[in-house]
Amino acid sequence: MKRLGILLSGRGSNFEAIADNVQRGRLTAEIAVVISNRQEARGIVAARARGLPAVVLPSQGIAREEYDRRLVAELEWHRVDLVCLAGFMRLLSADFCRAFPLRVLNIHPSLLPAFPGLNAQRQALEHGAKISGCTVHFVDEQLDAGPIILQAAVPVLDDDTEETLAARILIEEHRIYSEAIALVLSERWRIEGRRVIAK
Ligand code: GRF
Repeated sequence: MKRLGILLSGRGSNFEAIADNVQRGRLTAEIAVVISNRQEARGIVAARARGLPAVVLPSQGIAREEYDRRLVAELEWHRVDLVCLAGFMRLLSADFCRAFPLRVLNIHPSLLPAFPGLNAQRQALEHGAKISGCTVHFVDEQLDAGPIILQAAVPVLDDDTEETLAARILIEEHRIYSEAIALVLSERWRIEGRRVIAK
């Protein structure tokens, strides 16, 4: 069974959707460890409540390279095959990415390459986009930039607020993240340049 390492910093709803799919047998994998850089993250409380290995690695005041070394050590200790960023609010160093080549995924609440970075839903609204959505992609050392695995689109409605748009996107996030994990674990894909092609 392939082993997932989930990294989060906050609410953890994407983590919970993945854990639900694992529990219900819809995603063949096991969650080896959930790691948060914030003590108070709701996601880490949820991980403990589910009886999953949950680790807090506080990042404050630690240099990125050193922090990432600790992260890699923790993930390797738990024999993680695939790292899933789920609202993990930190950039990862080149060394971290090299430790897990094409084995780190992220989910972002926009159709990349539109609106990378923070507050993607607000960016979409302010730009006047008519369609937004979410993207699961491989992680490299640039922000929200690696090859795209899956995307889902949602309409942006005239009366949307950041919250209503975020909620519509989140439903799709919860669906496509597990699908993308299943695809990557299946190894039925290849990469050509930036294009991830399902076999
Ligand atoms: C999601 O919108 C995700 O796309 C972004 O951060 C948010 C995390 O939400 N990277 P949650 O912690 O999974 O509920």
